[in-house]
Amino acid sequence: SQMSRIAYVNGQYREMRDASVNIEDRGYQFSDGVYEVCEIRDGRMVDLPRHLARLQRSLHELRIDMPMSLAALEVVMHEVVRRNRIGYGIVYLQITRGVARRDHAFPTTPVRPAVVVTARSLSFQKNQDTAARGIGVITVPENRWPRVDIKSVSLLPNVLAKQQAREAGAYEAWFVDRDGFVTEGSSSNAWIVTGEGRVVTRSADEGILAGITRAVLIEVLAALQISLEERPFTPEEAYGAAEAFVTASSQIVMPVVRIDGRPIGDGTPGPIASRLREEFHRFAAFS
Ligand code: PDD
Repeated sequence: SQMSRIAYVNGQYREMRDASVNIEDRGYQFSDGVYEVCEIRDGRMVDLPRHLARLQRSLHELRIDMPMSLAALEVVMHEVVRRNRIGYGIVYLQITRGVARRDHAFPTTPVRPAVVVTARSLSFQKNQDTAARGIGVITVPENRWPRVDIKSVSLLPNVLAKQQAREAGAYEAWFVDRDGFVTEGSSSNAWIVTGEGRVVTRSADEGILAGITRAVLIEVLAALQISLEERPFTPEEAYGAAEAFVTASSQIVMPVVRIDGRPIGDGTPGPIASRLREEFHRFAAFS
């Protein structure tokens, strides 16, 4: 753990303490960029092709050029994982529109998008312990822009919501839209399980990021013949649900045992969430 961490920054592998970007990077000035987070297990990246496909889509939506081929990007990500000797953890990839004199509109002379890749180890045991206890969630009003389908680094509402959760002694905040329905967590997708054992999550058509963990889990549900309802749900329905959980690349399936201070089910991680957490990686792709 004393080993210095290595980051990839615009073509070079640097020690983190020496790694930096230009102060006129548009990511820094306008949060004009996108990112991806992949789980690393046994030194391999989980569901990388899907993350890269979503990255391409995010870049396309923001009209940022792909700075290098997907194959080259994959090599860089592998190299950052390898150089940092990550067994279990996450790899972070960020691409911004690049460096230009500050002006809200796109640079008129083309600039090269800036690419940063970092990786870090996480404690597998700590994550398992959290999952064994289950997490608390609070609900907060949805205050994000309508394009949350783009995985943009512009995350202020998410940052504030997460901080509010921390200060309330909870782990995650679920946004609730104007119609009274949960959209998603500040950094995760939201799920409940009904009394009949049906798994419910909002459709990815509107109001949420199309999570990769979410998409894979839907395949897991089909394989395990657990029924799925893709529809929105309210906090009230969630309070009375048999189980709840969140999904994200950094946590896979994380049981929720408390929402707005109310215990969910018997207040311990539910059997379906726990089973899905165990089964997930049988269905994941490793690179
Ligand atoms: N967060 N919704 C939001 C707003 C997210 O930020 C994330 C991921 C997800 C889940 O997506 P996926 O299953 O593809 O990780 C949903 C990452 C992990 C993060 O910001 O660190």
